[in-house]
Amino acid sequence: MTALAPRPGETFVDATVGRGGHAEAILRQVLPGGRLLGLDRDAENLAFSAVRLAGLIGAAEVPPIEPRNGSAPAAGPLRLVHADFARLGEVLAARDLAADGILADLGIASTHVDDPTRGFSFRGDGPLDMRLDRRQGPTAAELLASLSETEIARAIRVLGEEPLASAIARKIARVREATPISTTSQLAALVRDAYGSRAGRSRMHPATRTFMALRIAVNDELGSLRSLLASISDAAASLAAGRSSWLRPGARLAVISFHSLEDRMVKHAFADLAARGLASLPFRRPVEAGEEEVARNPRSRSAKLRVAMVGGAVGGAPLQVP
Ligand SMILES: C[S@@+](CC[C@H](N)C(=O)[O-])C[C@H]1O[C@@H](n2cnc3c(N)ncnc32)[C@H](O)[C@@H]1O
Repeated sequence: MTALAPRPGETFVDATVGRGGHAEAILRQVLPGGRLLGLDRDAENLAFSAVRLAGLIGAAEVPPIEPRNGSAPAAGPLRLVHADFARLGEVLAARDLAADGILADLGIASTHVDDPTRGFSFRGDGPLDMRLDRRQGPTAAELLASLSETEIARAIRVLGEEPLASAIARKIARVREATPISTTSQLAALVRDAYGSRAGRSRMHPATRTFMALRIAVNDELGSLRSLLASISDAAASLAAGRSSWLRPGARLAVISFHSLEDRMVKHAFADLAARGLASLPFRRPVEAGEEEVARNPRSRSAKLRVAMVGGAVGGAPLQVP
């Protein structure tokens, strides 16, 4: 919030509204006069956030959740859109909005992991689904049925950084010849088998990396981030060239990532903006959670926050790493 510095009257985007924690904090600061546009691929999280934010601004001010290309005029302080942030530029342009700040808090929400029916977790049994947007396929089960053994091994190695990727993919290929792999407990047991006696030596569950890799593949999470960063770059270039843009001068961009591949993409994209003179970077290194925060919220352990300020820093004062 220090980096984003939302001010009354400004237009902010929370590209990953989730359960509305950041959205609520931002909305408080842009009021009066400002507005928040919240996106999520997950319809259930959007619905939850609508109720949560109604507690802040009143139910009458919370409009129905909009489809991506819906552009009904809205004067209220909040708009919630069921969309992939890969299409953020389109979503803003269709609504004739330009952003003073954008936050993307990547990945999945705790509730995804905690709900066995969504298929993200190896704790508890459920269908092997893992889709953030349940309107669109394929599910994790469908992906495991359709990819070749080599493709599965590659996904688990690259996206999950799993050293035993080949052995796990081999096991998957063998098992699926006899039975479709359709539940989370089936996949978890199969990965444990592939680990064999090595399972006991690992601090985390042997299926942790495989589940993460599959989830990233199912939702093409790296592809969405690539599109978001490319569209931000285009919008910043348009702004600098004096063309119409959905970024306002001085817009603050903040991305929180939980995966080294994502963090690398953000780091390079922001460094490129800075090198082209389109943005300044207030922190040399990513901001990470301190010991006290990790103790309070263990899932913050791997979070890395990177910030860029379009067209240079606003307000003059350099930001302090909290
Ligand atoms: C870490 S949670 C966000 C938590 C949120 N900041 C809060 O305070 O509750 C990530 C959210 O981003 C959503 N998400 C992930 N990838 C997305 C994408 N490409 N486009 C839109 N939403 C996405 C997920 O559905 C999930 O709800």
